[in-house]
Amino acid sequence: MNDPQLETTPSETEELTLSQTKSGRLEPAPEPNELVTAMKVRDLSFYYGTFKAIEGINIDIYEGQVTAMIGPSGCGKSTFIKVLNRISELEGQVKVEGTVEFFGQNIYDPKVNLNRLRRQIGMVFQKPNPFPISIYDNVAYGIRLFGRKPKVEMDEIVETALKSAALWGEVKDKLNKSALGLSGGQQQRLCIARALAVKPKVLLMDEPCSALDPIATMKVEELIESLRHEFTIAIVTHNMQQASRVSSYTAFFSTDESRVGHLVEFGPTSQIFLQAKHPRTREYIEGRFG
Ligand SMILES: Nc1ncnc2c1ncn2[C@@H]1O[C@H](COP(=O)(O)OP(=O)(O)OP(=O)(O)O)[C@@H](O)[C@H]1O
Ligand SMILES: [Mg+2]
Repeated sequence: MNDPQLETTPSETEELTLSQTKSGRLEPAPEPNELVTAMKVRDLSFYYGTFKAIEGINIDIYEGQVTAMIGPSGCGKSTFIKVLNRISELEGQVKVEGTVEFFGQNIYDPKVNLNRLRRQIGMVFQKPNPFPISIYDNVAYGIRLFGRKPKVEMDEIVETALKSAALWGEVKDKLNKSALGLSGGQQQRLCIARALAVKPKVLLMDEPCSALDPIATMKVEELIESLRHEFTIAIVTHNMQQASRVSSYTAFFSTDESRVGHLVEFGPTSQIFLQAKHPRTREYIEGRFG
């Protein structure tokens, strides 16, 4: 591999190089030729044991954009985003076909260090999953995996991450209290802070608001809006309004009688929502199935 950033030898100091982004909400997305591809997926199929869950996926996740993954239950959205940082391998006997590149590097190269990969490509799950340790230690967790830092520096990292996740004001006086004492919405923002603390380039979010009430959902959406310039985000959502509010590109996945989970259509969110090319996309967005 040419770029060492996913290999075992860590080089922890690189800065994020981020492309200019736009503010979304059904405004025209930047043209693909103006964008850098953060993750390039080609002919991707994935099997749990012998069961093929997704097949033939081709998609570019653009740097500095929010890409929404939508589609009916069971069409492979979670499977797809878990393949993007190889968390899918924790599911046991699995098989991947095709290629996934992260800024030109094959993430399935045997030299790839999985901790390092997941540091660059972080993930936030549907159900908030804070560790049963303090708020501070949750945020510091990922950094500590890669070595010790002086307390002053760590304090600053924790504060910055919590501010980025719009949680600092609510927790700054109880950093040493257990994370399990936070509300669900706070726990989810803590999980986002934990993911952001290690400065990933890509943040994968699998229905991050599905366990949250409308106010907490709004906070997470505002957070995504504020992070969009700094990170590349891929978010799975069942909420069409949410997809149209937060994303600039949308991928519609589905299954049908003859095919397991596959990508039906991908394009700028405004086009997918207002002028989808595929009838199935239109039917799904209009709520006629799924
Ligand atoms: N660990 C697993 N072992 C075996 N099959 C699985 C596993 N996880 C998911 N599947 C199957 O893979 C297919 C895709 O599931 P996946 O969870 O990716 O769908 P999804 O689009 O995220 O659905 P939802 O919207 O309900 O979250 C489904 O048929 C599911 O039953
Ligand atoms: Mg899912």
